[in-house]
Amino acid sequence: MTKQPRKILVTSALPYANGPIHLGHLLEYIQTDIWVRFQKQRGETCTYVCADDAHGTAIMLRAEKEGITSEQLIDRVNAEHQADFRDFLIEFDNYYSTHSEENRELSAYIYNQCLKNDRISQRPIIQAYDPEKQLFLADRFIKGTCPKCKTEDQYGDNCEACGATYTPMELINPRSAISGATPIEKESTHFFFRLPEFQSFLKTWTRSGTLQPQIANKLAEWLDAGLQEWDISRDAPYFGFEIPDQPGKYFYVWLDAPIGYMASFKNLCARRDDLNFDDYWRQGSETELYHFIGKDIINFHALFWPSMLSCAGFRTPTAVYAHGFVTVDNKKMSKSRGTFIKARTYLEHLDPEYLRYYFAAKLNGNVDDLDLNLQDFAQRVNSDLVGKVVNIASRCAGFITKRFDGMLAEQCDEELLLQKFIAAGDDIAAQYETREFGRAIRMIMELADLANQYVDEKAPWVIAKQEGKEAELQAICSNALNMFRQLMTYLAPVLPAMTQKAEAFLNTKLNWESRTHLLLNHKIDVFKPMMTRVDLDKIEAMKAASIEPDITPVKQAAPIDDSIEPIAPEIEYDDFAKIDLRIARIVKAESVKGADKLLQLTLDIGNGSRNVFAGIKSAYTPEQLEGKLTVVVANLKPRKMKFGLSEGMVLAAGPGGKEIWLLEPHQGAQPGMRVK
Ligand code: 2FM
Ligand code: ZN
Repeated sequence: MTKQPRKILVTSALPYANGPIHLGHLLEYIQTDIWVRFQKQRGETCTYVCADDAHGTAIMLRAEKEGITSEQLIDRVNAEHQADFRDFLIEFDNYYSTHSEENRELSAYIYNQCLKNDRISQRPIIQAYDPEKQLFLADRFIKGTCPKCKTEDQYGDNCEACGATYTPMELINPRSAISGATPIEKESTHFFFRLPEFQSFLKTWTRSGTLQPQIANKLAEWLDAGLQEWDISRDAPYFGFEIPDQPGKYFYVWLDAPIGYMASFKNLCARRDDLNFDDYWRQGSETELYHFIGKDIINFHALFWPSMLSCAGFRTPTAVYAHGFVTVDNKKMSKSRGTFIKARTYLEHLDPEYLRYYFAAKLNGNVDDLDLNLQDFAQRVNSDLVGKVVNIASRCAGFITKRFDGMLAEQCDEELLLQKFIAAGDDIAAQYETREFGRAIRMIMELADLANQYVDEKAPWVIAKQEGKEAELQAICSNALNMFRQLMTYLAPVLPAMTQKAEAFLNTKLNWESRTHLLLNHKIDVFKPMMTRVDLDKIEAMKAASIEPDITPVKQAAPIDDSIEPIAPEIEYDDFAKIDLRIARIVKAESVKGADKLLQLTLDIGNGSRNVFAGIKSAYTPEQLEGKLTVVVANLKPRKMKFGLSEGMVLAAGPGGKEIWLLEPHQGAQPGMRVK
């Protein structure tokens, strides 16, 4: 009897609709997408849904700031997110929005069920309120001076300087981060989900194999400490769903966000005859439901969500899989270091499959953080994918095309070795299944090493020159290409675009099932390059393009210093815009005979060289300057000086003498780049 396919529904966390996708987000979508592709490739019925998380105060305020409606903002961001995901080869079966009719209905239904089961309470609470903006203020929208260490400009819940925690009204001189007004305290009725009543349900649920051990242990601590009721309402104005029969009260964004998983699936079911909503969501369903999330949102997915589902009569998740955070070069992603890299910026410089491969190679089934080390990234992709995998095909394909009209041998004379490749598939599959992608990749690369050793030993390029060795040449190359085919089958969940190229080249579909039949007496297509090497300059350019100045506001107004030269009269923007600033490399620096202050610089500005005299000799020796990057005013009319023609002006600042500092752009900058 053939095995029935599993029915699996998979989700990734819903990204907020007020900002771009960045590499931190992508770890999760890539992880989930690999897992889903693996399941599909194995013949399972696997459905992957997601959506934008479109509600909440932050989105409402952002739209207001941009002068558009919240709906306009979320539509625009939804399109941007979908384009980013598509270009990273993340293949959702449906990508929707939490601001949808399906979600409104499901949220109301779940709330009403919880109400009917007496799991909702209401009571007045006192909160900070912005009297100017007429808005209740969440803690992060209030700033003030820390009551403990007196550091200014701290958020309403904790101090970044001394770590103290407090309520927003305890801040000294609190103010609304939105309007600057002093918040007042105001009462209003809120609705609560009675989470403590789910204590014993949760104790069982969290220990029933639904969570990774580290997470289950953490939750056991929380459960032992006792749970609090969960505030699920917010007052108008709020961008979200109004609570049924409670005008002016809205569901808190985190109530309807996970229901967005159901809503996205429901929306998909409406256009897919093979999928039935109840089949996947009714209590007791035998289908599987998995949520991939970051470790920071585990409470929402492993406490509130299963409790709400069970209270409303739905099934609970089969498992929740949490992952850690992405660091870049071992540090938190940072805008000022150029390591807060947006999906789009990455795509403008590098191939998405590099990142898919690198993340896969470093992912495992637990919640460890993952470091994207950019040197290692380049080295790993180049050595594994280009140097090992593609190399097998590129070394053998030409002989088959030119000497055998594209036909592989009729028989295999390396049965044992090839059987080893085929058999490894079961172990590799077990690693994918448990999200041990790093282990899967290691196993695949060990096979790639064996394949390369085989080609090295057999040296088809030597055999090709010998008379009467046609059959041997064809056999060696056919064996190697069969090995390449096994490797690409195993890499397919990670590298979908390269897989398509391999399928076109091998003239066959790659899947786990059919891999057991060798490609013999089979015509292949001409080999075309499948992946190019990672270019280090492109990594630097991507980092340079990601640098954003630190925009932390100056804490105190700077004092006025009389000794500072007065600022020159204002100029119009148009005057400023006439200045063409370019990155230049100082190719040569020399002293100028007879001039105490000047150095003569030869600059490479991308499209030619310039001769510039700069009055910086008191601060720099010529040796210190050669090779450095700087910024030059490139369209300054050449000036005839005593020592020659000066064709531009380099930018430096400082009072003079030893203290003159040349502007030094990030090393990833390239001569000729325009400075804006
Ligand atoms: O943390 C976040 O980015 C949330 N927008 C995730 C929501 S996941 C789900 F519950 F909707
Ligand atoms: Zn403090």
